[in-house]
Amino acid sequence: MKRRQFLQTAAAVGGGLTILPSGARAGGKGPSSKLNIALIGVWGRGEAHYDSLAEENVVALCDVNEARFPKALERFPKARTYVDWRKCLEQKDLDAVVICTADHTHAFIANWALNRDLHVYCEKPLAITVEEARIVRANWMKKKGKLATQVGMQRHANPNFNRIRELVRDGAIGELSAAYAWGNRQIRRAGYLPAAGPPPAGFHFDLWLGPSPDHPYNPGYFSGVSGLNCLEWNMFWDFGVGQIGDMGSHTMDLLWNVVDAKLPTSVEATGEKYNPDVTPVECQSHFELPANDWRGPIRISWYQGGEMPRSPKPYIDLKQIDHGAMFKGSKGFVIADFESRILLPFGDDSDMTYYKSPTQDSVLPPLGHFQKQWLDACKDPTLKTACDFEYSGNMIEQLLLGLVAYRVGRKFEYDGDTGRAIDCPEANELMGRKYRQGWTLNG
Ligand SMILES: NC(=O)c1ccc[n+]([C@@H]2O[C@H](COP(=O)([O-])OP(=O)(O)OC[C@H]3O[C@@H](n4cnc5c(N)ncnc54)[C@H](O)[C@@H]3O)[C@@H](O)[C@H]2O)c1
Repeated sequence: MKRRQFLQTAAAVGGGLTILPSGARAGGKGPSSKLNIALIGVWGRGEAHYDSLAEENVVALCDVNEARFPKALERFPKARTYVDWRKCLEQKDLDAVVICTADHTHAFIANWALNRDLHVYCEKPLAITVEEARIVRANWMKKKGKLATQVGMQRHANPNFNRIRELVRDGAIGELSAAYAWGNRQIRRAGYLPAAGPPPAGFHFDLWLGPSPDHPYNPGYFSGVSGLNCLEWNMFWDFGVGQIGDMGSHTMDLLWNVVDAKLPTSVEATGEKYNPDVTPVECQSHFELPANDWRGPIRISWYQGGEMPRSPKPYIDLKQIDHGAMFKGSKGFVIADFESRILLPFGDDSDMTYYKSPTQDSVLPPLGHFQKQWLDACKDPTLKTACDFEYSGNMIEQLLLGLVAYRVGRKFEYDGDTGRAIDCPEANELMGRKYRQGWTLNG
């Protein structure tokens, strides 16, 4: 039985099939069998996946730059190569894809893969517009339990994420009222780079541009070292969303992992003067989140490019934390970076009697290896992944709403059910972006 038929049958049988017997189909996918995987974007961040993918069958390698193939083929000699991810996804034996391309293609590839019943690991950010985030999340929600997804927010596996969650959830700072995350990376660019001759042979720049508007080739977009080249293009509106999508995806995760939120009900943002080519360096955005089953309504904020929340005490210099988060409660603060945290009881009645520290039995279990968590879930999609497209899709939609508010220059109310701003038509104009002819977001 082909994978697609199997999934359709499983869906049709519905409740009758409580556990997906992954190993039942040809090319079995039991816990001990191997997945057939396509790696799309094989250099840079792609290389960070080589070791975990080497445990599986990498059957397809796709890159717009043919010069990247020889090294990748040394590691995965049996793979077929492609320069166009749309062709790559036609390969019949695929089970799963890992997406390590430029940000402006993430939601496209993820949607196409999900629509072909493939498991997806997508590097962050999952999307660069609100509309993209909503479509890719909706596509996955239809197949939740049958397909595994994960966004590359691998810092989430750091035990500190669990410890912060426990502190706040177990009441160490009383009632949570606000939370803040910030990132201090500042990379300034004036505008898109000028034309600088044709791309080298074997570099398919037109495919790199993909759905984004036409821009002339310039080697400056590709002058970075492996794994950091994204810092050469991700601040340009047509290719990324700057630090929101970059470190914002990691750092907001510190906060998002604690607050158990879906989508905000209001959004406001301020920042440096708008540049039509380049996303802002300095910016701050603020969101109201409705109450849930363990906390009241809260306000959360994202600061970047040197803008910072106010420190609770002058002796704590938050600026010493490049990428961090702070949680404010009725009885104190938790301040954290990715690896460590401090608790600051605050106020005359912050005697900690209200806090019961976790026991050996109650501490949250370690996540383990982040990429492996996804590989395991591909083999048994009833297993949960920490940064699936629901969790990460909601998080990036919220951050991207901040960019919309920055551009319209005023606060708006947001209806998370419809993805529309209320009484702010100019915000609704900015929820999506225009694509070049021939490129379909949800194909
Ligand atoms: N999770 C993390 O910590 C982390 C770290 C670095 C980068 N990233 C993310 O990984 C992605 C890639 O970043 P990078 O620095 O490796 O970028 P990069 O510019 O080096 O691109 C990586 C590879 O993808 C190829 N590529 C680009 N667009 C493609 C397309 N449409 N089809 C096929 N191949 C394509 C490039 O030629 C290159 O070989 C970015 O989205 C970035 O945000 C994540």
